[in-house]
Amino acid sequence: MKVLVVGGGGREHALCWAIARSPNCDQLYCAPGNAGIADVAECVAIAEDDVSGLVDFARRKEIDFVVVGPEKPLVAGLVDRLKAQGIPAFGPSAQAANIEGSKGYMKDLLARYEVPTAEYAVFDEPEAAKEYILRKGAPLVVKADGLAAGKGVIVCRNNNEAFAAIDHIMIERAFGESGDEVIIEEFMPGEEASFFALVDGTHALPLVSAQDHKAVGDGDEGPNTGGMGAYTPAPVVTQELIDSIMEKVVMPVIQGMAEEGHPYKGVLYAGLMITEQGPRVLEFNCRFGDPECQPLMMRLKSDVLEALVACAEGSLDKVTLEWHDDAALVVVMATKGYPGYYERGSEIRGLEAAGAMEDVVVFHAGTKAKGGKVTANGGRVLGITARGATVAEAQRKAYAAVDAIDWPEGFCRRDIGWRAINR
Ligand code: AMP
Ligand code: GLY
Repeated sequence: MKVLVVGGGGREHALCWAIARSPNCDQLYCAPGNAGIADVAECVAIAEDDVSGLVDFARRKEIDFVVVGPEKPLVAGLVDRLKAQGIPAFGPSAQAANIEGSKGYMKDLLARYEVPTAEYAVFDEPEAAKEYILRKGAPLVVKADGLAAGKGVIVCRNNNEAFAAIDHIMIERAFGESGDEVIIEEFMPGEEASFFALVDGTHALPLVSAQDHKAVGDGDEGPNTGGMGAYTPAPVVTQELIDSIMEKVVMPVIQGMAEEGHPYKGVLYAGLMITEQGPRVLEFNCRFGDPECQPLMMRLKSDVLEALVACAEGSLDKVTLEWHDDAALVVVMATKGYPGYYERGSEIRGLEAAGAMEDVVVFHAGTKAKGGKVTANGGRVLGITARGATVAEAQRKAYAAVDAIDWPEGFCRRDIGWRAINR
């Protein structure tokens, strides 16, 4: 099979790394890829959101299967456009991707199928939003509608913070067009958990548990990022909880979407708050988590390509997934300044030494190869991932590899996995 992976982040490096091992993969392309992906796939310079360029390439190269990593091309209809050309792909249609692309759509869907989530209201002008804040009172959560790469969410402890969040999103337009509407939500106290299931329209196959750290600083302090690290398994997600998430969240959503005429195919990523009343939905994503995908791919024993193809074909009921019975953990190294302003172009050394360590894989995110050197080309730059018997051992190995990287312009959190380890 000729396979094309779309995207160029750490998640796509992990997907390419896993797909390249499949006996069914004869040739692997990645668009646009990065310096690390180039070791396992042929990188082609087409942007991840250049839908027409990607479709043309897939036709020209007679690609047999496309795996879409990020949300942007999914929401833009890449899978629909490929399907129209007879090219099967892993990922939801544009309609189904709205489960991530529009929080309003997602919230209405959950209400229709009585899936537990936070009470909410939508506003398209700041005055009405502020009146609602006064009426409900903090703590509240203010969210920009649309895609803001996981960063358009502000948890507000008091009313003044909530007012400032409205100004930031709607008046200062911090997230651009995503600030046309805001959603104001009830604050749900509890421990967060991520849940991933492969879905083929009607069947769902849960993956092993994983959890990320969204905040930029140690102790989960500071502004939210796309994710500064992740680990699997996540002890908060017990088998009992998995059963309850499948029954109360995943299956009602999948059945509802199928009945409404836009069945969900791809990976359904539920961000959940585990409250005293059970799991409640924070958000859905229509893609693998980044960086959760990195440790998940390291633990997966089965042929990932076969499972992804089954999602597109509707034959997921014939697939079982086998996992290594241990733990894996990724530490993200980012350019200093991220998630705010940062410079590109600094040189990274020590990648080979880190990658040569036992049970370690260095996944690249924002990197670029130039004249034999690897330079930083983004906010999140590397995902140093390690397997170990326990989360604590995987953490120790991952940080040993982090310490082999020589990159003064980079930084990472030093406490990835702390919740699982302290439990
Ligand atoms: P989201 O992108 O909607 O998952 O939000 C990003 C982060 O904000 C989540 O991972 C939570 O830490 C926090 N958050 C969002 N909504 C809520 C809520 N209703 N209650 C408590 N925390 C929330
Ligand atoms: N790690 C969070 C995300 O992928 O959205």
